[in-house]
This record gives sequence, structure tokens and C-alpha cells, in this order.
Amino acid sequence: MSAAPAPAPALEVALGARSYPIYIGDGLLGATGLLDATLGAADVLVVSNDRVAPLYLEPVRTLLGARRVEALVLPDGEAHKTLERFAQVIDALVAGGFHRDACVVALGGGVIGDLAGFAAACYQRGIACVQIPTTLLAQVDSSVGGKTAVNHPRGKNLVGAFHQPAAVVADIATLDTLPERELAAGLAEVIKYGLIMDAAFLSWLEANIGALRARDHAALAHAVRRSCELKAEIVAADEREHGRRALLNLGHTFGHAIEALAGYGHWLHGEAVGAGMVLAAQTSKRMGWLDTAAVERVRALVAAAGLPVAPPALARDAMLDAMALDKKVVAGRLRLVLLRAPGNAFVTAEVPAAVLAATLDDALAYPVAAPPLARR
Ligand code: NAD
Ligand code: GLY
Repeated sequence: MSAAPAPAPALEVALGARSYPIYIGDGLLGATGLLDATLGAADVLVVSNDRVAPLYLEPVRTLLGARRVEALVLPDGEAHKTLERFAQVIDALVAGGFHRDACVVALGGGVIGDLAGFAAACYQRGIACVQIPTTLLAQVDSSVGGKTAVNHPRGKNLVGAFHQPAAVVADIATLDTLPERELAAGLAEVIKYGLIMDAAFLSWLEANIGALRARDHAALAHAVRRSCELKAEIVAADEREHGRRALLNLGHTFGHAIEALAGYGHWLHGEAVGAGMVLAAQTSKRMGWLDTAAVERVRALVAAAGLPVAPPALARDAMLDAMALDKKVVAGRLRLVLLRAPGNAFVTAEVPAAVLAATLDDALAYPVAAPPLARR
């Protein structure tokens, strides 16, 4: 009996000669032959961590078929997205005798994707990388678009490169084992796409947020697919973030300040972005760009996703200082992504400091408790 034909890609990121497919489906990790069109017979180094590898390394070996497959399993966590672990990946590539036609497969969440992707970008001036994202955040955001990086002790993602993957394989079934907090954190990025550019998708999210939190596979597959379509559209238009790609930072300037001040790891990135999107909506209202009903829509959806809707108890001026350190400051002016309507975001440097301060004062009058520390 001949093997079943490999599923077709759900979509493609259109970047000329560097275009690549995104496969989205249920049980894709067992689909031998799926990567034959993009990967040839390459030797493969799978980079994963000690949480994800025990769950999914064997199915990925099936996906990779008869190729030579070696695996490097690193410790789990953002604390390992470092130059030291990057060097360990390079060492494994050298020790394994991998050549320029080899491929790095990143199996895990955004931490592994960013680290392994950066190693692929640098090894022998760039080899192929396949992203196999296993968190919702990685499936809808970090695995697509080619941003790779490691952290420096002085700041997140300070050392990195643009390196588009050769393919992305998002297996929805892997989300079954994801802790609930991580699922909610990924939903923040999904909501972000609706808010910045797709009002119909936003309405769909409002109607289906319960199904998404209950991990209904069809609902998750739709959310991942629509998010990837929207991100692919933006990346195809503005790969290096000279313009429109900045919209993907909705809620992130507020969120980065919350993450940094609460202490990295205390608030997950997506949790901080959830509160940050509500703050962006409230700032938009104060500027006269958004009405009360629209702000309440944003707040209600973020809450329904299981995310915080306000910052923790922080000093307002510390928040303002942390926001001023954000990468989005150009020529001394803070550039914020704000909303004209749900589904219509834009970048502005026009928000006066007094408006920001008043918005933060209001929000900080009713801070939320820090989310629980336990991630597992
Ligand atoms: P993560 O990679 O730390 O994963 C979260 C946790 O879930 C980890 O403990 C991980 O081991 C575990 N995990 C992963 N898949 C699992 C599964 N299927 N079942 C059970 N546990 C699983 O975090 P993340 O939220 O995926 O990614 C955050 C990182 O992504 C940050 O470093 C951030 O800077 C980066 N990021 C990059 C981009 C980009 O464009 N490159 C975009 C957004 C975020
Ligand atoms: N996560 C933001 C971007 O990829 O540009």
C-alpha cells in the first residue's frame, strides 16, 4: 500500500526566493514526507528542551523519515536563551560534522525557536532552519517572520538576526499538553491580530474564546491559521520592520514595562501584552480615537481569555521610565501602537506624556494581583 500523500501547506509566506510554507494541522508530527519538498535529504540537528523533547522528539523523528537526525536537548526556560547555549548549538553542529546543506529543526516554544533559529542564521553564514512550534505563542507569532535572537544580561533579544525558516510545522495536537497559563499567553497574541487588522476575526474570537480555552482543535486550527495569514501578510510587506510590521507591537510597549518591572518570569509575556492591549485601548480613548464601548470590548475579550486586564501595583513613574527604554523610542519620542477602532491600529508619536500618565494613574488605581508564579 502506498503512503498517504503529505498534507498541502495551509499557507505560504511570500518573500520571493525565500518564500516558505506553513503547515497547520492535527497530528502533523507523524506525517513522514511532509518536508520532502522543502528539506531534501538534509542531515538534521533537532534542538529542543528537556520539557518538550520527552513529549515530541520521537514523533519528529518520524516526520524526518530516513534522514540522519541528531538531537540536542537543552534545559527549559528563558534563562537559557543565551550566548552560552547558542555556542552549545554551534558546538553540536561542528561535532556532528554538519555541512552547509544541513538543517536545524527547532522543536519547542519561542525560546527554542529564537535560539535555534539564531544558531542556524550564523552557522557557516547561514543554514536552513525548520520551525516546529509547540506553544500557541510560537505557532501564531515567533515561528513566523524570521526574527531570531538570544538575550544579553543587559537586555532581551539584544543579539540576533533576521533568518527566515525553510518551513514551519504547527501541529495543533501539541497544544494539548501546554499549561493553561501558556495557552492564555498565546491567546493574547491571537487577540492582537484581530485588534490590529481584522475586525471579523475579532468577532469570531469573541464568539469562540470558550472553545479556544477548552482546546477545541478545530477552533485552535482556525485561530492559528488566521493569525499566521495576517502575520504573513505583514512580513511579506515589511520584512525588516521599517513600517507596518511595527503594528505587531500593539500592547507591547506597556507590556515590556510590566514584564521588566514585575521581574521577568513573574508575568508571562502574553499576560503583560494582555494588560498592555487594554492600556493601549484606554490611551486611544483618552486621545479621542476610541469610544467607551470599544474599550470595554477589548477589556472583556482579554478577560475572557484568562489574562490580566490591568498592570500589577507598580509606580506610575517607573512604568513611564521603563516604557521610555523601549526599542520603539525614535529620536526621543515614544512611538505607540494605538487603535482607531477594534480591527484598525496605527503607530503614533503624538501622545503627550500627560495623557500617558493619566491613563496609567487610572489603571494603577485598580491593579491586578501578580499572576501565580507556578508555571507548571
Ligand atoms: P517558551 O518557549 O519558554 O515556552 C513556554 C513553556 O512551555 C516552556 O516551559 C516550554 O518548555 C513549555 N512547552 C512548550 N511547548 C510545550 C508543549 N507542547 N507542552 C508542554 N509544555 C510546552 O515560551 P514561548 O511563550 O513559547 O516563547 C517566548 C519566547 O518567544 C521569548 O523568548 C520571546 O522573546 C520570544 N518571541 C519571539 C518572537 C519572534 O518574532 N521571534 C515573537 C514573540 C516572542
Ligand atoms: N513578534 C513581532 C514580530 O515578529 O515582528
